Amino acid sequence: MPAEVIYGTEIATKLRNELRKEIMSLQKKGIQPGLAVIIVGDDPASKVYVREKKRASEAIGIHSKVIELNEATSQQELLDKVLELNNDSSIHGILVQLPLPKHIDAKIIIESITPNKDVDGFHPINVGRLITNQECFVPCTPLGILYMIKDKNIPIEGKHVVVVGRSNIVGKPVGHLFLNENATVTYCHSATEDLYNHTKKADILISAVGKPNLINEQGVKDGAVVIDVGNSVLSSGKLSGDVNFDVVKEKASYITPVPKGVGPMTITMLLNNTIIAAKQS
Ligand code: GUN
Repeated sequence: MPAEVIYGTEIATKLRNELRKEIMSLQKKGIQPGLAVIIVGDDPASKVYVREKKRASEAIGIHSKVIELNEATSQQELLDKVLELNNDSSIHGILVQLPLPKHIDAKIIIESITPNKDVDGFHPINVGRLITNQECFVPCTPLGILYMIKDKNIPIEGKHVVVVGRSNIVGKPVGHLFLNENATVTYCHSATEDLYNHTKKADILISAVGKPNLINEQGVKDGAVVIDVGNSVLSSGKLSGDVNFDVVKEKASYITPVPKGVGPMTITMLLNNTIIAAKQS
């Protein structure tokens, strides 16, 4: 039997409706959640993401502030902006869109965001809290993946989760998130020998590399749950994940498509994290 397709679009719509209600009740208590997004330079993909974050925030009643700085902005100017937002009581979440221009050290900027407003979950304090299984802001894509799996009542405890990719934004945190849920976690990456020897043992396979067709049916166990975080733009202009969807869906029990899979969950979890930040302020 072919896999059930998990549409992030549907789960995101459901959750955003709940978040909208939560914001209305916060507003009655005089709390108006606010999110600031800083973008430096003219990267076209980043501009699209930032526009979408603003639109999604406003659609559910989050006050949204977008700060557009030009490519020549100095590291100190950006630091000053972050510090100003750290001290702005109308702003509960701060996100600095990555990548930053080469002359700016992203590590220094991320560390300048107060951890209580770090809705991206990138600050080393939040990373450390995630690894030590404490309450913290968790990066949005990993959180979205966990939310989708829980929404489908897919068991996690004791299951073997194989993560392909070790980025700080997705691969590393998603492994820790599932470890905290009592899964057994294996990480694979560009230096892994015989990738499929690992991936075909996965009960839940998460691929976050950015290589179309990296995962074919030979790399997937019968009945596995396959989560595709790949997001490559093909020469045709179409979006592609890491997984060969048409063949893998015949073998998996659940599979996420690209587009309409994990993508819509990421911004939804950013909205969720901003509401948490506002409630804790
Ligand atoms: N660039 C690509 N993904 C992300 C993200 O999740 N957060 C930020 N700040 N920048 C990104």
